Amino acid sequence: MGLKYIELGRSGLRVSKVGLGTWQIGASEWGWNRGYGVEDVVETIVRAHELGVNFIDTAEIYGGGLSEEVVGRAVREFRDEVVIATKVWPTHATYDGVLKACERSLRRLGVDVIDLYQVHWPNPVIPLSSTMRAMERLVELGKVRAIGVSNFSLGRLRRAQECLKREEIVSNQVRYNLVERGVEKELLPYCEREGIALIAYSPLAQGLLTARYSAANRPRDFVRRLNPLFDPSVLRRAEPLMTLLKEIAAKHGAEPGQVALAWLIRREDVVAIPGAKRPEQVESNARAADFELSDDEWSALLEAASKVSAGVWSLLKTPLRLLGI
Ligand SMILES: NC(=O)c1ccc[n+]([C@@H]2O[C@H](COP(=O)([O-])OP(=O)(O)OC[C@H]3O[C@@H](n4cnc5c(N)ncnc54)[C@H](OP(=O)(O)O)[C@@H]3O)[C@@H](O)[C@H]2O)c1
Repeated sequence: MGLKYIELGRSGLRVSKVGLGTWQIGASEWGWNRGYGVEDVVETIVRAHELGVNFIDTAEIYGGGLSEEVVGRAVREFRDEVVIATKVWPTHATYDGVLKACERSLRRLGVDVIDLYQVHWPNPVIPLSSTMRAMERLVELGKVRAIGVSNFSLGRLRRAQECLKREEIVSNQVRYNLVERGVEKELLPYCEREGIALIAYSPLAQGLLTARYSAANRPRDFVRRLNPLFDPSVLRRAEPLMTLLKEIAAKHGAEPGQVALAWLIRREDVVAIPGAKRPEQVESNARAADFELSDDEWSALLEAASKVSAGVWSLLKTPLRLLGI
């Protein structure tokens, strides 16, 4: 076994089923420069490349642009061997706004072309057609290779596609992990049918599925203080799932987080982009492709995970989480 690769839609871009997320770069909300910093993340990206992890996700908003800069610098020696995905923030979603944001991203990344350019979130007050026309124009200009969206519902994904004349949307990046499986209802089946890749963000449920956290040992950063999954009541409810992840991991000589990723990437059109702060984390995440779960293990995980639910009340506490910032 080992890393597998799939094509993003019909773009010709081949990406590893385990990629690398880089929201962590420059993000004070994740504890940037408190326990990890530039050297760690550059090493992480270089190590990812050595391991065959060729898909790197960033965004203009991450670290106020620092994430794109660091990614660009880190991949300079092997730029053609990686697929770089970045995103335009919704406040720049007008036609001109998208064109300008893309120029800034190209400059920060230090590249001539962005492999996958994604609309980060829908913006309900800007006509989707303007945004998508600009995305198409960028492909025409040779500044972007393929168009993706992120956090788009099924209805909006369809409308976005209808706005394009020549290009196809090749991917939708959404929150998807063992305990947050809302996309399975209609979005994932649609993407599978249409050959649109589903890029799963927060595939480790922001670290919950590494089974390192508990009600007595909660992460302290801003991101996870806002995430209802790290509420003590949810962490307590998640204990049987954590135990199962550890048991299955032990059988495969693996780690709990790898089991959670293996569960996710078993689906053909799903690519996971775990965020990593240090090289050891990307090494561990890449190894999720080294073993396969049995059908029984897969269903047992599903059952245990179904019992963990964040609860609507705690979602109300965390409007920022809904914005993905
Ligand atoms: N499109 C969007 O709106 C959107 C939203 C969110 C994220 N994203 C993208 O998706 C990526 C991943 O999502 P995410 O960062 O929210 O969550 P995630 O990948 O589920 O969790 C990342 C965190 O898990 C921990 N971790 C990672 N690998 C580990 C390992 N091998 N062992 C132990 N701990 C490990 C690290 O935190 P600790 O070490 O501190 O525990 C890391 O910061 C982001 O970087 C970003 O590129 C996109």
